[in-house]
Amino acid sequence: MKRIGILTNTKNVETYLHLNRGRFVHELCDYLRFPSVSADTRYQKGLAACAKWLAAHCQKMGLTTELRRTRGNPVVMACIPRRARSKKPHYLVYGHYDVQPPEPLELWKTPPFQPRIVGHSLYARGASDNKGHFAHLKAVEAYLKTATELPCDLTFIIEGEEEVGSPSLAGFLRKHRTRLRCDAVVISDTTLYGLNYPTLSYGLRGICGLEITLHGPSCDLHSGTFGGSVENPGMALCQLLACLRDERGRITIPGFYDDVLGLSPFERAAFASHPFDTNSYKRSLGVPKLFGEAGFTTVEQCSARPTLEINGLTSGHQGEGGKTIIPSWARAKLTMRIVPHQTPGKILALTVAHLKKLCPPTVRMKITTAAGSDPYFVSPESEKVQTGLGVLRSAFGSEPLLAREGGSIPIVDEFKQILKADSLLLGLALPDDNAHSPNEKFNLEVFAKGMLMSAYLWQQLPRGQRATER
Ligand code: BES
Ligand code: MN
Repeated sequence: MKRIGILTNTKNVETYLHLNRGRFVHELCDYLRFPSVSADTRYQKGLAACAKWLAAHCQKMGLTTELRRTRGNPVVMACIPRRARSKKPHYLVYGHYDVQPPEPLELWKTPPFQPRIVGHSLYARGASDNKGHFAHLKAVEAYLKTATELPCDLTFIIEGEEEVGSPSLAGFLRKHRTRLRCDAVVISDTTLYGLNYPTLSYGLRGICGLEITLHGPSCDLHSGTFGGSVENPGMALCQLLACLRDERGRITIPGFYDDVLGLSPFERAAFASHPFDTNSYKRSLGVPKLFGEAGFTTVEQCSARPTLEINGLTSGHQGEGGKTIIPSWARAKLTMRIVPHQTPGKILALTVAHLKKLCPPTVRMKITTAAGSDPYFVSPESEKVQTGLGVLRSAFGSEPLLAREGGSIPIVDEFKQILKADSLLLGLALPDDNAHSPNEKFNLEVFAKGMLMSAYLWQQLPRGQRATER
């Protein structure tokens, strides 16, 4: 593994980052005030205003910026002023300005779109997932404002639909594929295991999902009058769902594991070296006992193995008190996290076929599926990954971890398919940042390290590039 020497030409950049830290935090707070929730149409204005603010901010920083309309939410595309026919390596930085819905609001200690700083934590929806990508913008601002030459060309692609599966971005990439041609994509939208454990993820799980509804009687029935003579859709759904997993934690859908890439001894050793403690994990989650697929460690189970989860389950009376009915219908929302080389299409087809086979003749089953996204994997031994590890080592001053992210970033596989570019996943989200949850927060020390990481990256990444491709 190549060691990275002390960097000399980033001194001014580092000083600029240090001196302007307070202003950067204020600007990040401004960014966080926009309620840019993509899953909920009521927030349309918040999304548009957020994109507009971001584009103006990029322009003011000295980036050549475009606010591009799509069928959905706009994409902010911003690049450093670039000489014609530049021969420098070109990198994309990807991030998303959309955020998850803030509900349940009553569990927030202060309102989700009024950023609040307590100690080193900045609380707001989107602070960690994913407006922390602001660190990359500020690192580039430091280069521009100190007139420090960047050894590479950079384009930022910040979209507003990641949390709803990035439906417009693949089309956008195809349309602009020539100008977006690049040597790698850099993304900070994955986990950082700790300030002393900088983390590089070389894989992501994909995702696909479906909604299943079982229809029984044409309306809710009195369970005294009719109970015993007709199927209860709630019960039928529970029995059906219970068949999808065995007691050893294996998904029972025939063919489900056929295309799963096994873990190499190198990976298993890397994961085993994570500073992971099963007991404190269990305690922090508030569960009485952990559960997972037999034969795999917890780290492996939640990053490199496929899963099937019930995300929602509804039937019958939900209000206060009792109601003696046989519900007319029952519904479940399921998602599967998939790993290389599973595909959403095949997994959905296998699942639907299995559900149809299991469905009793006493109910009518309706299934709607969602397109989903492919998993991602790049060899942890590749040159780019090794360079990324070196950058993390110098920015954080400690030995980085290699990981596979259990979450999904739908567009990453499309970067590979459409632009032929690998992604370097340099996470800045701590496991206790409460992403997708009330009281989401971002660690301001991570913000500072993230800016430094980005500043070093643009020095180091092109060196690896020249070594391999020039
Ligand atoms: N930033 C996350 C991906 C992620 C998840 C990173 C968990 C680290 C840990 C991303 O914004 C996200 O939440 N993606 C969704 C995609 C889905 C809505 C299509 C996910 O993984 O659920
Ligand atoms: Mn995210």
